[in-house]
Amino acid sequence: MEQIKTIRSLRAYVTEKRRTGSKIAFVPTMGALHEGHLELVRQGLKQAGICIPYIFLNPKQFGDGEDLDSYPKTLETDLDKLEKTGAQAVYVPSAADIYPPGFSTTVSVKGISEILEGAHRPHFFDGVATIVTKMLLQCLPDIALFGEKDYQQLLVIQKLVTDLNIPVQITGVPTVRDENGLALSSRNTYLSEAEYGIAIQLNKILAGMKPGNDAHAAHEKLKAAGFDKIDYCTICDAHTLLPPEENTQEKRALAAVWIGKTRLIDNLPVSE
Ligand code: PAF
Repeated sequence: MEQIKTIRSLRAYVTEKRRTGSKIAFVPTMGALHEGHLELVRQGLKQAGICIPYIFLNPKQFGDGEDLDSYPKTLETDLDKLEKTGAQAVYVPSAADIYPPGFSTTVSVKGISEILEGAHRPHFFDGVATIVTKMLLQCLPDIALFGEKDYQQLLVIQKLVTDLNIPVQITGVPTVRDENGLALSSRNTYLSEAEYGIAIQLNKILAGMKPGNDAHAAHEKLKAAGFDKIDYCTICDAHTLLPPEENTQEKRALAAVWIGKTRLIDNLPVSE
């Protein structure tokens, strides 16, 4: 697996592969890779032939007091895991290359970025939208793959690609869960054994949510399960993330909850 460290060499690599007729898949990550990330890479390989994951811990999507400093950094293990998927190359740019002195542009997707996650982490989607736009423009892949676990992020990225006419197909990949249904996340490593016992209730409570005003009951169940704080737990229109209307076809239950200092998010489609 080739390690690509600069924008220039990324562009040269992609140009060369294109010249030989290959399609390119791109998988954005911040490292601390788990099976969820590796599944994105496997899907990318299946759908495009060539897959380039990137690893960049993006400081711009962390707010003051969030876990940027303690976020797990496991580069060597990450590279080993990627090698085993069959990915042909990995992009590992430096922070100095990505955000050189004087960098002053922000990509901000209004509306969908301002609710749910955006209401609780106001800096988050500007940080994500800015890095993803930069990375897509650096690589110009045919497809880019994102996990449905970050469902709102997936919709924000679909919107920015449409609005900015970036010629890439954004593909969502279903959430990978452990044997107890907990959505895999790099932040699960923060959980103690007792906290894990609480965390595995989240997907079960979401799965029990039905259309109608079920949010109150879900909040009560989350509190009874031992979650310390609920940022939100609600059923939304799956495309706009606004409250569902009478004629809304597809709905999604989304939640962000805290156990101690760990914040977990998850979501599931809602069936009637
Ligand atoms: O989902 C993530 O890991 C990050 O938000 C992303 C998309 C890699 C951007 O930094």
